[in-house]
Amino acid sequence: MENYIRLDVDLEKFVLEENNFTLSKIAFKLSKGEALALLGPSGSGKTTLLKVLDGLYKNYSGKILLDGVELKKLTPREIYSKMGLLFQNPEEQLFAERVYEDVAFGPKNMGWSEEKINLAVKRALALVNLEGFENRPIHKLSFGEKKRVALAGLLAMGHEILLLDEPTLGLDPLLERNFIELLLNLKKKGFSIIMATHNVDLVPYFADKILVIKEGAMFLYGETREVLMNLEALKNGHMRPPLITEAFINLNDTLSKSLLPLTKEEATEVLKALVSKLCS
Ligand SMILES: Nc1ncnc2c1ncn2[C@@H]1O[C@H](COP(=O)(O)OP(=O)(O)OP(=O)(O)O)[C@@H](O)[C@H]1O
Ligand SMILES: [Mg+2]
Repeated sequence: MENYIRLDVDLEKFVLEENNFTLSKIAFKLSKGEALALLGPSGSGKTTLLKVLDGLYKNYSGKILLDGVELKKLTPREIYSKMGLLFQNPEEQLFAERVYEDVAFGPKNMGWSEEKINLAVKRALALVNLEGFENRPIHKLSFGEKKRVALAGLLAMGHEILLLDEPTLGLDPLLERNFIELLLNLKKKGFSIIMATHNVDLVPYFADKILVIKEGAMFLYGETREVLMNLEALKNGHMRPPLITEAFINLNDTLSKSLLPLTKEEATEVLKALVSKLCS
């Protein structure tokens, strides 16, 4: 079985005690090596859903199966050995005084040898472009650096399922590009990823599928292109397709939906074909 299902979700209902915010009727499957983009307006429930999936809230109805076992039956340690959540706000995640201590926390808890921990921390910091940051005090880091230290903590653990809440927030364009490369590499290695984001322009670069939630309920779910071409529904969900796609829709409404570019690279190919047609 190559791409077996890691997460099988059929959430009936979950109510946040604090304010009665409700998640309802959200169903999807996440396979090995698959990336799902979680989209939706601010306050629609993306962060809440990620926290439910990570086992932080257990009073939901419906099913959430992690490798075929109901999440409620698993201990935090069993969940943590497979799945990790990158919090939207790194302040919620980071607790140690210095970078090394924080990134090494998970591996130390797993009882790894010191040598293995050192190597994992070094590798994880390199993956997020923070080589040599081991001794830096966390409270003095920039927001983007804190976010990357938190991500390094997950990468050091090697969770096979990553739940990422706005991981590109606070990253400059180069780091954002590096991050997408990192996601693609992780996918190739068989990691499964759910990433909540408002950056719809980045989505076609990494996502196989998109789940849009609106007011706590599933609004759209499907293959990336299929969802991004559902222009009317996106509008109703306070969303838009990528800017480059919008530009082509505005430019030429005769271009069939299957040819509309979702990325800058796809747009270049479409333009090249048009130019060579014009010149021939
Ligand atoms: N711990 C909490 N206590 C009270 N209300 C909460 C809590 N967590 C979330 N909420 C509320 O639940 C709703 C859903 O919030 P959530 O953070 O899941 O949305 P989101 O889609 O992640 O938004 P954003 O795109 O702004 O991150 C919001 O109205 C939010 O104010
Ligand atoms: Mg959120």
